[in-house]
Amino acid sequence: MLRTLGIETSCDESAVAVLDCDGAVEVNLLSSQITTHAPYGGVVPELASREHLKALPHLVKHALENALDPIEMVAVTAGPGLVGALLVGVRFAAAFAWGRRIPLVAVDHLEGHLVSPLLNLDGRPARPEPERMLALVASGGHSSWYAIEGGSRQRLGRTRDDAAGECFDKVAQVLGLGYPGGPAIDELARRGNPEAVPLPRPRLKNAPFDFSFSGLKSAAVRWIQEHDLRGAGSNGMRREVLDLAASFEVAVVEQLLKPLEELTMRHRPQAVAASGGVAANTLLRDRLTDWGARQGIEILLPVRALTTDNGVMIAHAGQLAHQSGRVDDPRRLDARAREVWQPPGMRKQLDCPVADDPR
Ligand code: KG4
Ligand code: ZN
Repeated sequence: MLRTLGIETSCDESAVAVLDCDGAVEVNLLSSQITTHAPYGGVVPELASREHLKALPHLVKHALENALDPIEMVAVTAGPGLVGALLVGVRFAAAFAWGRRIPLVAVDHLEGHLVSPLLNLDGRPARPEPERMLALVASGGHSSWYAIEGGSRQRLGRTRDDAAGECFDKVAQVLGLGYPGGPAIDELARRGNPEAVPLPRPRLKNAPFDFSFSGLKSAAVRWIQEHDLRGAGSNGMRREVLDLAASFEVAVVEQLLKPLEELTMRHRPQAVAASGGVAANTLLRDRLTDWGARQGIEILLPVRALTTDNGVMIAHAGQLAHQSGRVDDPRRLDARAREVWQPPGMRKQLDCPVADDPR
């Protein structure tokens, strides 16, 4: 693999990393925009683009100063994400690659999350991907299960409405816990009773591996309003807030893990992985780890710092794509807002999602 500079600007983190030719992390830098977006309870796209514009040149300069050897390749998130935010990273990466006459590789953000469990921050090389694996990606924008077989990816199930992280953020916002909500709810849930508040776990007819989170989210918001707890998280912690956090968390985690038994029987995976911001969740990690120990199946979880968006995963996804022959033209590469993962059964188009975009 080539020594790679990874750039990620798809949402509200400007992230830059340098990986050596074994996928070991040399530099991992992040400039978070949380304080910019916090007053709005979510990411404001135009503000995100402007913050990326400000942060990216400094991060890259710092990364180059700390890298041990010259960069041989640039990998950049080209989608899905906020198009203005993505464009900042894509144009920066393209100019960098063009100016230095080094290869440019466009990376699908989800592909980045999928490889994140293979990486570490201890300076060790990246581990190879298991041949047969099931992988959950659960973040602020996505909640899907994938089958990974011999490097190919097939999506097996996905959310039909909200993403899991989006629900954590919404419930936290109504409780007055600020943005992002996942870490705050995670912390409160440790002190609450997960059985105190009955919340629905809706199932979709004829789609056993798909999720629906909007009913669960609305039920939690309704319960907060009915119990007069709107904004209650911001001034002292009442028992009911802790119980709601714990009950909501366990409902989301059970929804996410429900397809696992059946998918395991069908796909006989060597390992099960989870990634994306929600994979930082304590209960999700514990439940998966216990399940893996009982089943004798290896569980791959990214270190917590690599669950949320980062440049390390983008650099490594780019390294692997380049190894299989992928190179992008810096004069033509564009950002793409939408997900281009194809429905199950259309495997052929999955390996190179950005290049296959017919736009
Ligand atoms: O992967 P990510 O950084 O961005 C996207 O690609 O969307 O994920 C961010 C999401 C947010 O919704 C955040 O609330 C959620 O991940 N999150 C968590 C936790 N840490 C972050 N959700 C539950 N528990 C956590 N500990
Ligand atoms: Zn992400």
